[in-house]
Amino acid sequence: MIHQNRRKELLSQLDDNCVIIISTNPEQFRNGDVTFPFRPHSDFFYLTGFHEPEAVAIISKNSYSMFLRPKDKTREIWDGARLGLADAPNTLKLGHAFDINQLETQLEKLIPSESSVYFDEKPCKLDSQIANILSKHNPISFQESLHEMRLIKGASEIEIMQKAADISSAAHTLAMAQVSPGMFEYELQSVFDAHFVKNNTQHAYTPIVAGGKNACVLHYIKNNKPLKSGDLVLIDAGCELNYYASDITRTFPVSGQFSEPQKQIYQIVLNAQLAAIDAIKPGIDVHKPHQIASGIIQQGLKKIGLLMPGEPLAKFYMHGTGHWLGMDVHDVGKYQNNQQHRVFEKGMVITVEPGIYIRKDDKIDPIYHHIGIRIEDDVVVTETGNTVLTRNLIKTINDIETLMSQANL
Ligand code: GLY
Ligand code: MN
Ligand code: MN
Repeated sequence: MIHQNRRKELLSQLDDNCVIIISTNPEQFRNGDVTFPFRPHSDFFYLTGFHEPEAVAIISKNSYSMFLRPKDKTREIWDGARLGLADAPNTLKLGHAFDINQLETQLEKLIPSESSVYFDEKPCKLDSQIANILSKHNPISFQESLHEMRLIKGASEIEIMQKAADISSAAHTLAMAQVSPGMFEYELQSVFDAHFVKNNTQHAYTPIVAGGKNACVLHYIKNNKPLKSGDLVLIDAGCELNYYASDITRTFPVSGQFSEPQKQIYQIVLNAQLAAIDAIKPGIDVHKPHQIASGIIQQGLKKIGLLMPGEPLAKFYMHGTGHWLGMDVHDVGKYQNNQQHRVFEKGMVITVEPGIYIRKDDKIDPIYHHIGIRIEDDVVVTETGNTVLTRNLIKTINDIETLMSQANL
C-alpha cells in the first residue's frame, strides 16, 4: 500500500495525462563472474518495493505495469528464485507484467499518444535502451518531485531509521569497549562487520577506521594500520537496514584516556555539535547548523591559539556540517530553493557532523599535531524540534572514559 500511495502522490504532482518510466540498478560485476551484492535503485524501490535487477516500471493514473525477468530454471539454480511474470501482478499489484526481453518491442505500445512522458536516464545500459525508445517523446524529468517526497520521511521510514541507528550505535559502543593498543584498524572494523551481519544489515558506506594522523584524511578507507596508545581513533560507520542508512562518527582514545590537548579539541567539536543540533527545528534555515558549528569551532581554535587572525577556518574544518540522510547515505533533496537556503520541515533527517583536523605544521604546537576529530549524529526534525536517532550512543569525554575504563578492567 505504501508504494501505491507514493506512486499516486507522485502522479498528482506531474502533468495530468502522464506516464512515468523508471528502471532499477543494473547488477554490477566485481570481476570475472563475480557480482557485487545487488541493491535496487532507491528511487525505484521507493515507488515499487521490488528488489530484483532488470526491471522497468511504467506508472500512470490508470495503469501500472512492469517489465521484469521471466522465470528461468537454469538461472534460478545458480542465482536463486525469481518472482516471474505469473506471480508479479498479484505480488506487486500490477495491471500487467511483461518480459524484460520484450522491452524494445513492447514499451512504446504502453505509452498513449497524448501522454507526457517522464523519465530520468541513469548511466546504465538499460536506461540508454529506454532513452532510445523514448527519444521522440521528449521525456521530462520527474526526479525533483520524487526527491522532494523522499526528503520528507513518514513514520514507517523513521521507525526503520531508528532501528538502523540503534544497531550502529551498539556497534560503536562495542568498538569503544573492545579497542586496545596494537590492534589493527581492520580488527576494529571487524566489530562493525560482525555486528551488522548478526543483525541482518550491511554497511551503508565504506567505513572509516582511522587511527592517529589517518583521521586527518577525510575519506581514509584503507583501515590497515596498527592503533597506537596515545592516539585517537576516528570511526565513521553506519549500517543500512531495509535500504535506509545510518551514519555515525565517534572519536575516542585508543588507550581509553584523552590527553589534555585531545580533550581541548574534542570539547570544541562536541560544543559545536551540541549547539548545531539544538538549533534544528521546523522553520529554521537548513544552513544554520553549519553557521553555528563553524562559529564555535572558529572561536575555540582562536582561543587556544591554533587559528591565527586572518587564517581561514577551512585550514582545520574543511567540510560541511551535515547532509540529508535516508535511503542514500547522502540522501536526495535540495538544500536551496531559488538560491535561498530552505528551512527545516517535519520529517527531514539530517546528519550533524562537525570536525577539526590538525595536520603537522611547523607553525602549530606539536602537541596538537595529527589530531583529527569528528562527531556525527543523525537527527530527525519533529513537529516542534528534533529527535536525535543516535541519542543512545555516548559522546562526552567523561562518558567515553568511564565506559572504556570499565571495559578494560
Ligand atoms: N559517512 C559519510 C559521511 O559522513 O558523509
Ligand atoms: Mn555523514
Ligand atoms: Mn559519516
